[in-house]
Amino acid sequence: MKVMLREVSDSDLPVFFAQMNDPEGIRMAAFTAKDPSDRAHFQAHWARIRQDPAVIARTIVGDSGEVVGHAAVFGPPEEREVTYWIGRQYWGRGAATAALRELLGVAPERPLHARVAADNVGSIQVLKKYGFVVTGSERDYANGRGEEVDEVLFTLLG
Ligand SMILES: CC(C)(COP(=O)(O)OP(=O)(O)OC[C@H]1O[C@@H](n2cnc3c(N)ncnc32)[C@H](O)[C@@H]1OP(=O)(O)O)[C@@H](O)C(=O)NCCC(=O)NCCS
Repeated sequence: MKVMLREVSDSDLPVFFAQMNDPEGIRMAAFTAKDPSDRAHFQAHWARIRQDPAVIARTIVGDSGEVVGHAAVFGPPEEREVTYWIGRQYWGRGAATAALRELLGVAPERPLHARVAADNVGSIQVLKKYGFVVTGSERDYANGRGEEVDEVLFTLLG
């Protein structure tokens, strides 16, 4: 599907909140907030990142202006990291692939890093398409699953 990125607006936040509370998405992403249903924490988090000049946060919108998800680049200069989340009803239609292409254009800095649960096949596919390579692995506690999960570290070099 065709998507574009735009600045995040207030009315996008309830949609992100619902998308990021989808149990299947939480399980897939694994490394989520401790309690994604904590609305106050969610609001405070988004208020903070939207006013942080070091964070490039964008809403992913579809052809009809529908909020498909979000994508962002964050972190200190030497550890810039990408993240993205697509609403479940849009999965498997190329939204993440198209959104990451746009995001990499908006955020030309390199290297860029990404962390993915080792069994998040879709996310790994998307990263590999744009030349992210595996640079490490870790095993960490994942809030989204309530257990330790293998995590793969990816890097996109210049
Ligand atoms: C992972 C996620 C971003 C994928 O988004 P998407 O829009 O469905 O991805 P795309 O449609 O662009 O698919 C990209 C590739 O992955 C494959 N893929 C997508 N979901 C998959 C799945 N669940 N299992 C296997 N392959 C999958 C697609 O077939 C496609 O491969 P291809 O281009 O070789 O045909 C989406 O499922 C999501 O937001 N999940 C919850 C949050 C999350 O995990 N974020 C990433 C954290 S690192």
